[in-house]
This record gives sequence, C-alpha cells and structure tokens, in this order.
Amino acid sequence: MAPLVLRTVAETAAWAESLRRSGRRLALVPTMGYLHEGHLSLMREGRRRADVVAASIFVNPTQFGPNEDLSRYPRDLEGDLARCASAGVEAVFTPVPAEVYPPGFQTYVDVMQVSQGLCGARRPGHFKGVATVVTKLLCLFKPHVALFGEKDYQQLQVIRALERDLNLGVDIVGMPTVREPDGLAMSSRNAYLSPEERHRALALSRGLSAARELCRNGTRESSALVGAVRRELEAVGLREDYVELVDATSLTPLSAVIPGQAARMLVAAFAGNTRLIDNQPIGD
Ligand code: PAF
Repeated sequence: MAPLVLRTVAETAAWAESLRRSGRRLALVPTMGYLHEGHLSLMREGRRRADVVAASIFVNPTQFGPNEDLSRYPRDLEGDLARCASAGVEAVFTPVPAEVYPPGFQTYVDVMQVSQGLCGARRPGHFKGVATVVTKLLCLFKPHVALFGEKDYQQLQVIRALERDLNLGVDIVGMPTVREPDGLAMSSRNAYLSPEERHRALALSRGLSAARELCRNGTRESSALVGAVRRELEAVGLREDYVELVDATSLTPLSAVIPGQAARMLVAAFAGNTRLIDNQPIGD
C-alpha cells in the first residue's frame, strides 16, 4: 500500500501521537532519499521491531558544507515512495527545508567528542547538521526505535551520544552495511560514479578486507594495518581523505588492535570528485 505522505510538522506530530495513543510501537528510519537496499534493510528491520514503520526523506541542508553536493544530491521521490511501500513503510515525512528550519530557527545540537575526528574534522559543521535534524526528527515522531546504517559509522556514534545525553528514550539500532555483490558499500552517492570510478571505488572495501586479514594473521600495529588500506587506494589512484584505526565506541585513534577492545578501521577517499566512505570492525 502507498505510504501516507506527511509534508508538515503539525500533521506528522498528530499522526505519530494518534499512533502512540493506539498503543502501537513505532520505528523511524531517517533518510535523505534516493533509497537503496541499505535503506530498505533498515525499514524491514523496523517492521520486525515495531508495529508501524515511518521514514523521513529530507535532504538536510545544514549537514552540507558550502562546496558540497547539496544542489545535485540525487532525488527520486516517486521511486522512493514506491520503495517505501515495498518495504512496508506506512508514513513518509518529506518536508520542504522551511518546514524544518523556519525563519528564526536558532537551536542546534552539537555532540562534542565523537564528532571531532574523521569526517567531522574534514567536513566542519557536518555532524552539527546531522545531530540537529536527527534530534528534531526523534522529538517530532517520538519513535520507540530508530534505525541507522553502520556505513555512516561516525554518524551512528554521534546519534547514540545525542540520544543518551538528551535522554530521548529511543532505542537506536545500528544495522550492518549492505554491499553490492563485488563488495562496494551501498550509498546514494554511488550514483555519481562513472563506470571507471565505480571500478576503482572497490579499493575501499578491498583495503579494509586486506587489513582485517592481516590482523587475523597476527599483525596488530595501526601503522601496518592502515598501510594495507593505503596500498589498495594508491594502487588505483584514489585520493585518500583519511584511513584510521579507532576505538569502536569513542572513535579515539588506536596505535594497535588490543585484545578485548573493540576496534574499527575507517576510510574516506575520493574517486574523482565523489567522496566515498567505508568501515569494518577489525580484531576479535
Ligand atoms: O544518513 C543520512 O541519510 C542522513 O545523514 C540522516 C541521518 C538522514 C540525517 O539527515
């Protein structure tokens, strides 16, 4: 069935309130649209964890830097609504920017620590925009559960922190990255890649797998593991933005994988003008 399309904050608040009053559990999947299998996996998991799933489709201007791809971010609302229907989503909030940021808007959410390194250091203000819009969506829908992909691993940690620090009472669920059969992490931005860039982009997942394999064989030092990822990027001429081994929760850099401490390897690189990110757990 086609989802109910909610365009305003007022109608969304009323819809969510009547749902809660009926005693049903609500799952929310926030997105920027141009939905792919990764988003659909979140929606299907939402259906398993709640009675009703809602999604938002909003290309959030505050999380884009001045020279980023806000104006050309891929959009396909009609196709997205059909994909939402196929995944059992009952309502989709798809506001215009002025509905989310009306004149006089002046309140932002800034998660101080986990936002700092990695993408946060390279994209100033990005996580402030993400944290603000996600907080607004969680306050608007008051869902029981909200689902996000691990592909945006730092974003997931930022959202976990804001939910905890602001006592929002929402179960934040992170779901594994969905990959193309050849290993490329699914992303709406993959649509920007030429066939040749698409082929070179595989170096990110290949590099992460090489580092994991090296670690499985006993190499623990960050320099060697990071080096394994860099070699794959360099072999195909991808421009590195960062490659880092970090603690899986605090995202602080690690000099080595330590048994008993969950670690994660994160990579960001440019294929032409397209910035790609990927990550994998590493170690035990
Ligand atoms: O991951 C995304 O698509 C966005 O960053 C999110 C969480 C929907 C906030 O705009």
